[in-house]
Amino acid sequence: MKLKKMADFDLADKRVLIREDLNVPIQNGVVSSDARIRAALPTIRHALDQRARVLLMSHLGRPEEGVHSEEFSLAPVAKRLSELLGVPVPLKRDWLAGVEVAPGSVVLLENVRFNKGEKKNGEELSRRMAELCDVYVMDAFGTAHRAEASTHGVARYAPVACAGPLLVSELTALETALEKPARPLVAIVAGSKVSTKLTVLESLLGKVDRLIVGGGITNTFLAALGYSVGKSLYERDMLDICKRLLEQSAKRGIEIPMPTDVVVAKEFSAKAEADVKPVGAVGPDEMILDIGPDSAEQFGRLLSSAGTILWNGPVGVFEFEQFGEGTRALAGAIARSKAFSLAGGGDTLAAIEKYRIEESISYISTGGGAFLEFVEGKKLPAVEILEQRAG
Ligand code: 3PG
Ligand code: MG
Repeated sequence: MKLKKMADFDLADKRVLIREDLNVPIQNGVVSSDARIRAALPTIRHALDQRARVLLMSHLGRPEEGVHSEEFSLAPVAKRLSELLGVPVPLKRDWLAGVEVAPGSVVLLENVRFNKGEKKNGEELSRRMAELCDVYVMDAFGTAHRAEASTHGVARYAPVACAGPLLVSELTALETALEKPARPLVAIVAGSKVSTKLTVLESLLGKVDRLIVGGGITNTFLAALGYSVGKSLYERDMLDICKRLLEQSAKRGIEIPMPTDVVVAKEFSAKAEADVKPVGAVGPDEMILDIGPDSAEQFGRLLSSAGTILWNGPVGVFEFEQFGEGTRALAGAIARSKAFSLAGGGDTLAAIEKYRIEESISYISTGGGAFLEFVEGKKLPAVEILEQRAG
């Protein structure tokens, strides 16, 4: 990775424009998970300690461009950020014409996606953003897979464009896990659909020693193996692809372990009655909502002997207590394992918070889509432009 880094610059008195990913969940006007805000704190503190004039920008949600809306305002983020930093963080609603900031102070610029041209990486908007600063710092790993004005275009025109410490540590952790991993490398990829995770699954088969799948993905694999999955979520048109993936992995000696028991219910609800069944005994009116205890133990053993663990996705519907035991057990196994463990994705972070294992994971990524695209081997556009500017 050839990048200029924020740490290499003297920021005193400079106008420093930092792009963070402060796209956090908000409920009733309050930030409900501040993990992404906390991850950005060291970068912001460093700039403040250097007595930079700090301008922070981020998106929130997917608002309509060209209109201000309270629903997508960063106001709750400014409030939480100010509490965490212990300094005022004024939110600037109109900022494209320039913002006055004193050295050692910080302002938050209102949602970048309120501006026309953000999503399409518009040149005019990118240039106007670049004019706001002496140094542009890209630190939003979670949005690094998007080529937008605030993540890409601005980096082309800013006097200096460099990578922030969070972006650098995210890239370093992923490179450690994927490029020279301690073996065996075990990945957990869970989610509702094979189709949306197909490229990840395929590229991981070229890298991992064991691939644990979960959720609807597992149901489709089970159906491909001829098991009845009842009313479970699965993709009929992906059965042949699953068979091919199983054949490929067998040829390469890569294990894709299947659950031997599952937790089923007759309805998808918080009140549904859970029942543990051998994998071959799922009834026509039942759906699989978690892996069973034997499977959790079997997968847990694979995790405890791993050298590196990559985790994306909970293996069951852990939002409902009775279908959360599989995810809880794997979370515990990852936490106890001596492996270098790397986790990413919104649902995964929610599971990590729920089971309180933050301290036991080697690296928790702030990225969901960006994390997966990196794992797929794709170049992240926001990183690519920084490399070009450094070259
Ligand atoms: C995310 O949470 O996925 C990132 O912040 C990117 O947001 P987006 O998917 O709306 O571009
Ligand atoms: Mg996304």
